[in-house]
Amino acid sequence: MARILITSALPYINGVKHLGNLAGSMLPADVYARFQRLRGHEVLSICATDEHGTPAELAAAAADQDVRSYCDEQHQIQKDLGDRYGLAWDHFGRTSSDANKTLTQHFAEVLEANGLIEEVTESQVFSIDDDRFLPDRYVEGVCPNCGYEKARGDQCDNCGKLLDPVDLIEPYSAISGSRNLEVRDTLHLRLRQTVVETRLRAWVDASKEWPPLAKSIANKWLDEGLRDRTITRDLKWGVPVTKDGQPRDGFEDKVFYVWFDAPIGYIAATVEWAEKTGQDWERWWRTDKGADDVSYVQFMGKDNVAFHTVSFPATLLGSEEPWKTVDKLKAFNWLNWYGGKFSTSSKRGVFMDQALELLPADYWRWYLTAYAPEGADAQFTWDHFQSAINTDLANVLGNFVNRILKFAKSRFDGVVPDGGAPGEHETWLAGEVEQRLDRIAAHYDAMEFRKAAAETRALWAAGNEYLTRAEPWSHFKTDKDKAAVGVRTGINLAVLSAIIAQPVIPAASAKILDAVGVPADKRAWPSGPCAALLDRLPRGQAFAVPELLFAKIEDDQVAEWTERFSGGAEGG
Ligand code: 2FM
Ligand code: ZN
Repeated sequence: MARILITSALPYINGVKHLGNLAGSMLPADVYARFQRLRGHEVLSICATDEHGTPAELAAAAADQDVRSYCDEQHQIQKDLGDRYGLAWDHFGRTSSDANKTLTQHFAEVLEANGLIEEVTESQVFSIDDDRFLPDRYVEGVCPNCGYEKARGDQCDNCGKLLDPVDLIEPYSAISGSRNLEVRDTLHLRLRQTVVETRLRAWVDASKEWPPLAKSIANKWLDEGLRDRTITRDLKWGVPVTKDGQPRDGFEDKVFYVWFDAPIGYIAATVEWAEKTGQDWERWWRTDKGADDVSYVQFMGKDNVAFHTVSFPATLLGSEEPWKTVDKLKAFNWLNWYGGKFSTSSKRGVFMDQALELLPADYWRWYLTAYAPEGADAQFTWDHFQSAINTDLANVLGNFVNRILKFAKSRFDGVVPDGGAPGEHETWLAGEVEQRLDRIAAHYDAMEFRKAAAETRALWAAGNEYLTRAEPWSHFKTDKDKAAVGVRTGINLAVLSAIIAQPVIPAASAKILDAVGVPADKRAWPSGPCAALLDRLPRGQAFAVPELLFAKIEDDQVAEWTERFSGGAEGG
């Protein structure tokens, strides 16, 4: 049994996340965690809300709330939504926790003691009308890299480049819109990433298990040359800056930069989990306390890769302390909305709460996994969503399970029939199942979600094909034993189809397994000879037919949703 630590990029607190956010980190992290748990591994799945910095302050101001109560409220909303999507985190923490404050201050102090942090005077954008500095997202303007007109001070949403607010062309205040800005000097702490550059490169080179997207982004950053970066900001909301455990002189009105404390939040959320459950967090994070046995897997969108392959590792490695660093880093491309972007600020696309008003979580979980933006950006359109759901879930899985269980119920008194012996069709099926089970597991291990889902669907499709070949209904009158074999194998295959579907569609799988009467301890990832897997339900066991598993999406629903979500959609 392996120990696997899984983190998904921490969603910003600034409102309900859209389906693109879900598809690019939280959902695949959960699918992977569920798969590894089913295989019997010890999994710790951690997420949290990313609560500091300008995203939080700006959103709270827009909601006319103080930041703390805004964060309290939004954290609960995101946690509840996660539950409703079946995101089975071991802990969903908060970067505003005491644990994160303590750890962030600790890292800054050891980095400084190691010569990696220096005090510098920096030029920052100051708004005369707002009478304050405008760090990060408080200033917007034209991207100096790609010309995008609404680039934010910290990063351009269009080209992904990390920016310095002073580099924006035609900047204006995101608070007041004022262009009455000037550049003023202010004291800050700078993390000397360049000092650890050689070690970082060696660490990235040694990271053999990163899929290509993550590795290529990391190498691009290193090849372009690292820059020392300021890790404090002129803001009120965040982790206070200390020295020797006391407020730091000259930093009374400053806090750590959100991207400095957020990834430390992975560790802090584990500490919160340990406090809640009485477990030991160090065996997951300290290599001197057993974490060298842990396989640490991170999930994130491509815009987050630099922070996880350069900045956060610089913190961990630079501390010279025995922290666990990431082993496998899975990055995702964008899920686009009708050729444009999903956008929180423009309310473009479908958001997690809205999606659940339309359909249960499993529909979304399936679509966003089977058509995840993995190798390239993916496009969400209602037509594609409709055809994927109707084909994969309603026609292939739903139809197969329903067909076999209904027939078995009416002809074999609602029990798994005895009698008969496997023949050529069962041998064919066992071969199919064997190949596909191996491939599904291999794809999950490689974090290839589209491929894992495609093989899962292929196994479901094999169920329909098996029934077509075995034809238990035509044998029923002439050779009851032959019909019994077909029905028994079919019911076992329905169970197997549900078991392997659990990582992606846990609620529908549970419905099938409950109906057939498969106990909780018999739902682990299948292993052993396939012929036995296809004949493992006790003969004579009573089963029920589950109520409708998946309703087809009708054209008028698509028309209605297209209309409802047309705001901001480009061409949608
Ligand atoms: O891009 C984002 O949504 C960030 N909130 C991700 C943070 S990941 C981690 F480092 F905390
Ligand atoms: Zn740009």
